Amino acid sequence: MATQPIEQENPLREGTRLEAATEPCTVVIFGASGDLTRRKLMPALYNLMHEQRLPSSFAVIGVARREKTDESFRDEMQQAIAEFSRTKIDQSVWDSFARKIYYLRGDFNDAGTYSQLQLALARCEQRHGTLGNCIYYLSTPPETYDEIIEGLGRVGLHRPDEKRKGWKRIVIEKPFGHDLATARQLNARVATVFEESQVYRIDHYLGKETVQNISVFRFANGMFEPIWNHKYIDHVQISAAEEVAVGSRAGYYDTTGALRDMIQNHMLQVFALIAMEPPVAFDADTVRDEKHKVFRAIRQIQPAEVARYTVRAQYAAGSVAGKKISGYLEEPGVNPKSTTETFAAIKFFVDNWRWAGVPFYIRTGKALARRITEVVIQFRKPPQILFDEKSAGTIDPNLLVLRIQPDEGISIKSEVKLPGQRVRIRPVTMDFRYGTSFGVEIAEAYERLILDCMLGDSTLFTRRDGLEKTWEFVDKILDGWRQQDLKKLPQYEAGTWGPVEAQELMKRDGRQWRRQ
Ligand code: BG6
Repeated sequence: MATQPIEQENPLREGTRLEAATEPCTVVIFGASGDLTRRKLMPALYNLMHEQRLPSSFAVIGVARREKTDESFRDEMQQAIAEFSRTKIDQSVWDSFARKIYYLRGDFNDAGTYSQLQLALARCEQRHGTLGNCIYYLSTPPETYDEIIEGLGRVGLHRPDEKRKGWKRIVIEKPFGHDLATARQLNARVATVFEESQVYRIDHYLGKETVQNISVFRFANGMFEPIWNHKYIDHVQISAAEEVAVGSRAGYYDTTGALRDMIQNHMLQVFALIAMEPPVAFDADTVRDEKHKVFRAIRQIQPAEVARYTVRAQYAAGSVAGKKISGYLEEPGVNPKSTTETFAAIKFFVDNWRWAGVPFYIRTGKALARRITEVVIQFRKPPQILFDEKSAGTIDPNLLVLRIQPDEGISIKSEVKLPGQRVRIRPVTMDFRYGTSFGVEIAEAYERLILDCMLGDSTLFTRRDGLEKTWEFVDKILDGWRQQDLKKLPQYEAGTWGPVEAQELMKRDGRQWRRQ
């Protein structure tokens, strides 16, 4: 049974709109010649302009080491937007967007770069009326974060402009630290220059429409919250499966691995939205207080327990979507003796009243069978007593599936009577799809998050305390893995759902992944 779109005058269409930023500002992108700028940031800014959500007084300054002129940078960005923007490129929008784009060549460790930046910002102010409001976007390798933060601080570019009350905000990309110690160090470093209220630690999963919907689904419906606890829920599975292999990112990935790359941030953020208590308000601090509380309640997996609660593996040669893929250890740029995991699964508990005894299973991996990110809430099975198993069939548990991507939507699996004289029980699925129900294209996560930063709303960004808590949890697992000192990781064939060990993790508990 599919849900009907509620069309009428289409109030939903209105509701799916993002707000518009009205305060003038300049966005300074450090790392302007990088991949993220081309694929995500510039297309996001362009789309915001296309949809008239940018302030009229606006400018972008790209900063990077390579030699470029404003013109050549604009040309590159035009190509990037034509390739990666969801709305493609409209010449008249591009023409006015292009006039707001500038390039500044500079080394991040050179004090001169920041005095040049001061001048460039002053020029933008004159030409575009940006009034001293400024977002610094760190889209650079994390090794450069320290020098950029220091550079900005040294010339006072971090300070709100006293005369015109211009605000300054800093957006910091992941990876935010490599472990707990480095995440703490970076937080401390940031805090020597910026106030916490100026800091926007970005996790692009939080900008996904379907991730934001988790809270609305939980707290705007009367029927789910009363059963959202250990009395009715058997377990929760969160999967983020990717078809892509490591590709050209071996340099980064081989020193990172799936646990740091996906679980510490994206997946634990999704977990927090599923597991947190209802906040008393939907503002940045209240929501993040609740997330922090649930992170604190996660039962730590001690290093000695990793064999029982975690699985890690690497993809071996295989094929994904009909394309042959070589094994991780044969990928260019990967150490042939690498023990970096391209797949990780963990089982853990949350020690609070709501979730007592309910296991959470999280898994993620590269080169898997299909790209799919979803949350599965499996409810407890009712007793079979009334229906004879042999003639009526087994009663399956109800499942609530929140599909984060692709094919964004929600489905509920329940049991019904098969038409006919005899009682025979079969599962059916009630399905809601964003695509067909709303008929609008969903904005990219980066559009939403950049706009929120312009609006000064940090609800969808991670806070220092929460970030450190997630690292604490992950750090213990990393310790345990180090102590195991495996010379070779279990392998899974590319194009499958991962290693058998991940299935075992569930099977031991009499459960299974929804897709395997
Ligand atoms: C990034 C990871 O943060 O998220 C990548 O570094 C991963 O390895 C990506 O592929 C997944 O994002 P999405 O939006 O495609 O699910």
